[in-house]
Amino acid sequence: MQIFYQKSMLLAFVESTKTADLSIGFVPTMGALHEGHLSLMQQSLKENDVTIVSIFVNPTQFNNPEDLKKYPRTLETDIEKINNLNKNIVVFAPSVEEIYGNTTTKNVFAFDGLEFEMEGKQRPGHFDGVGTVVKKLFEMTQPNKAYFGEKDFQQLQIIKKLVLHNHIPVEIVPCPIFREPNGLAMSSRNERLTQEDREKSAIIFKVLQRVCEKSKKETLANISDWVSSQFKDLKGFELEYFEIARETDLKSVKILTPDDQYRAFIAVFVNNIRLIDNISLK
Ligand code: PAF
Repeated sequence: MQIFYQKSMLLAFVESTKTADLSIGFVPTMGALHEGHLSLMQQSLKENDVTIVSIFVNPTQFNNPEDLKKYPRTLETDIEKINNLNKNIVVFAPSVEEIYGNTTTKNVFAFDGLEFEMEGKQRPGHFDGVGTVVKKLFEMTQPNKAYFGEKDFQQLQIIKKLVLHNHIPVEIVPCPIFREPNGLAMSSRNERLTQEDREKSAIIFKVLQRVCEKSKKETLANISDWVSSQFKDLKGFELEYFEIARETDLKSVKILTPDDQYRAFIAVFVNNIRLIDNISLK
């Protein structure tokens, strides 16, 4: 299995791949890989000649230094998991200096207002950090297709804007949310939950499923109240936001109309570990 730690090595590899007229699939990750990441890699392997996976904990997308410090870093086991999945996957695991040089700064982007909704409100500057690193990674890997999970649905929509606004010739492939057997959306942050909290967190998806049913017959205001009540007395749980929003512009709505597609979005702290999830109301 090929692992590049230096940008120069990756660039040489990408150049030879392009010269050989082979297609590149790219899966950007921050490591602490789980089945969800592996499913993105599997899809890329099916659809491209070469699959590149980046493992890079991007400092500029963390607005909370403590969160950055505690983010799980498990490079050795990540590499083992990728190796077990497929030895032909190429891994890029750069240092912060390789990506940012001496100044870890981020660009400021306009994503047609998507950056001000939900995660953008709670984590100011987060999507500038994501945009900065993903743009750099796209420039380095020059992928034909890039794979993003729908768990971070807002991120996925923002990446589509990034590509559109900057004329980056890559197809963004959305991939369905992968869930643990109890329904909890897979996330690298789940690693930080205690076993008990991991089990209790199944409530997040259960609530979203009920929201989906309720959206067929109840007002959205009632549904919002109901969601709040589900977390109110749950020890260790704190609901940060719940919103029903249009998929295209992520604007929160008060009623559903048949012409648009909607999703319910939720962010919950479970003993200080922040989990997000969403569900289509189709
Ligand atoms: O979704 C993630 O893991 C990160 O935001 C990404 C896209 C790898 C950028 O750092």
